[in-house]
Amino acid sequence: MQQSSGFVNKRVVILGGSSGIGLAVAEQTASQGAKVVIVSSNAERVQKAVESLGDNARGHTVDLSDESAIENFFAKFGAFDHLVFTAGDSLHLHDLATTDLKEARRAFELRYWAALAAVKYGSTNIRKGGSIVLTTGIAGQRPRKGWVVAASVCGTIEALTRALAMELAPIRVNAVSPGVVRTNLWQNMKAAEREQLYESVGNSLPVGRVGEPHDIAQAYLFLMQEGFGTGQTIVVDGGTVLV
Ligand SMILES: NC(=O)c1ccc[n+]([C@@H]2O[C@H](COP(=O)([O-])OP(=O)(O)OC[C@H]3O[C@@H](n4cnc5c(N)ncnc54)[C@H](OP(=O)(O)O)[C@@H]3O)[C@@H](O)[C@H]2O)c1
Repeated sequence: MQQSSGFVNKRVVILGGSSGIGLAVAEQTASQGAKVVIVSSNAERVQKAVESLGDNARGHTVDLSDESAIENFFAKFGAFDHLVFTAGDSLHLHDLATTDLKEARRAFELRYWAALAAVKYGSTNIRKGGSIVLTTGIAGQRPRKGWVVAASVCGTIEALTRALAMELAPIRVNAVSPGVVRTNLWQNMKAAEREQLYESVGNSLPVGRVGEPHDIAQAYLFLMQEGFGTGQTIVVDGGTVLV
């Protein structure tokens, strides 16, 4: 017997949905019948992504580092079922000795403060049975040298996920923790350096490669649909924590 998709007639909002992991979540949910709304800060990228997603997708340009912009966005937005937060800017990677603490504070702006603001203003619009899925990273559990601030952001998101699951119950709140994934997040590296990173990290992993956005997206779909888990972080890292 064919089962109907849990996304038919569902409205999914993906903050950071114009690229990488968020775009893959948009593609997979839209292909399973969801009405998808993607949000990011660059109008051109939003438009391009919406065109690639087809009729089930809409897009909005919002700078999520601006709290009032997030508040205004959700004030005008109707009810929806699932909130996914995948927005992320370039990583703050420095040895502690060369870490500028003002810049380090800014590393929390989008991944932590914007996620918190999105949940604060967006969660009141979530329909019964809906959920929130945030994004962290394996650096929270498996930091490398130079990752003091980035790993701290990840650990903070995991704690936030558990706290929000209690605060917002019965809305379920979970997170996905990817390892290294081939996306625009790494675009500020030179192409050759980036390929070398993918190759050396991939070769060091039990699965023998770095992740692709579609690998990670499936974890978001699982968390939206499964109905019983909350406060959890699912690790999809190719085995990074094992090595
Ligand atoms: N790729 C990895 O290896 C990896 C590993 C672990 C964790 N993660 C996490 O996964 C999440 C998704 O990253 P990704 O790899 O998919 O990167 P990505 O392809 O660069 O996607 C990031 C998204 O965030 C949006 N964004 C950036 N600044 C924004 C702002 N101020 N307001 C609104 N949207 C903004 C971008 O769109 P605009 O530029 O149009 O705004 C884009 O849609 C991030 O939190 C990242 O830290 C990634």
